[in-house]
Amino acid sequence: MRIEPVPALEGHIAVPGDKSVSHRAVLIGAICEDETRITGFGRSADTESTIAAVRALGATVDEHDVDTITVHGVGLRGMRAPDGPIDCGNAGTLVRLLAGILAGQTGQEFELEGDESLSARPMDRIATPLTRMGAGVETADGRLPLGIQGRPLHGIDYELPVASAQVKSCVLLAGLFADGATTVVEPIPTRDHTERMLEHAGARVTRRPTSVTVEPADVLRLPSVEVPGDISSAAPFLVGAAIVPGSAVTVHGVGLNPRRAGILDVLERMGARIAIYNRRAIGGEPAGDVEVRASDLVGATIAAQEVPSLIDELPILAVAACHARGETVVRGAGELRAKESDRIEAVVEELRRIGGHIRATRDGFRIKGVPARLRGGVVDSHGDHRLAMLGAIAGVASVEGVELRGAEAAAVSFPGFFEVLEQIARGVVHYPPAT
Ligand code: S3P
Repeated sequence: MRIEPVPALEGHIAVPGDKSVSHRAVLIGAICEDETRITGFGRSADTESTIAAVRALGATVDEHDVDTITVHGVGLRGMRAPDGPIDCGNAGTLVRLLAGILAGQTGQEFELEGDESLSARPMDRIATPLTRMGAGVETADGRLPLGIQGRPLHGIDYELPVASAQVKSCVLLAGLFADGATTVVEPIPTRDHTERMLEHAGARVTRRPTSVTVEPADVLRLPSVEVPGDISSAAPFLVGAAIVPGSAVTVHGVGLNPRRAGILDVLERMGARIAIYNRRAIGGEPAGDVEVRASDLVGATIAAQEVPSLIDELPILAVAACHARGETVVRGAGELRAKESDRIEAVVEELRRIGGHIRATRDGFRIKGVPARLRGGVVDSHGDHRLAMLGAIAGVASVEGVELRGAEAAAVSFPGFFEVLEQIARGVVHYPPAT
């Protein structure tokens, strides 16, 4: 795909529903009594995998339109093992959260598999706590396929060895089936969508600044979930608006959970002009309309404490850093190496190819911004959706444009990404402003 430089990005847009919240709404809906109506569902290849998985396990899902679905839950212990393996596609959130639920389906055996990228990612991080709780878990040397035998589970206290919301959520979901309280201690706070949604569904959840406890549950009910826009999907447009001179973009209805919105803090530190309007709650999550206008940026330092709040936005922030004066340093982000691609190596390789001054460190990268624009050239997505969007934004901001290879990977989280980009590149306002 050819991405041409644009004079400016301008307009009002909306992005698909939050992927993390959408996965959780389907998975938790599937273990509820009655039905769960999900509006603003973020439909993507990843969340389609989740719908297919719960269907394979016996839940019914009605699809009313692209972003409205109803999940008819089977109750906490009502899942039935399908004949073959459950395909989790590219979705790390699906495989890790579902594993926690399946561990509690006593007397049944399940197998989880995924695509090539997911099959290379670490699963021992969930196998260890689930085994401690009493589940039967088998991995292929710490990777997929994952075999799970549901058994009676015990509550545990578990301190996360890596700051991971997926691992935390896996243990909390398994905790619903345990014989006592389950506590997860997290040294650095990670996204808390699971805790919020379980509370809404009637589970007993106790939250402290660095730990969370869930009690065993008998029945969950979650009649409706409204999903806010995905800040991770908004991020490419926000960065594009910050770096392409003369731009002004507003993304409406974006989730602004403080454990997810770290990109806004960093962009602000870099000198971006950001305004948030209409702060409100959407589906129990803080949300608002985010406007970014172009300005001259300066480099910033991002430390470990902040990383979980912007882990998926670090690739696109690297594009902003290439356009900022001075140095940007990212530390404590070694987890980037365990994502859909090794996002430290992939970001460094691709940005270098188009003129970026960036080098990899063990747990992050260092970028020397040249106040001039990136030159442009070829960018390869490495089959990673965040890299595909990085290539597109680097392209519109560059001098010569970008030939983007593997652009289709964007559909893993954001199938309409290029259409929205094209619309704001022409300055067309296509989001109906609220009356
Ligand atoms: C997610 C948590 C993060 C994030 C991923 C979604 C979630 O992963 O990178 O895209 O929905 O819980 P880790 O928990 O592995 O850090």
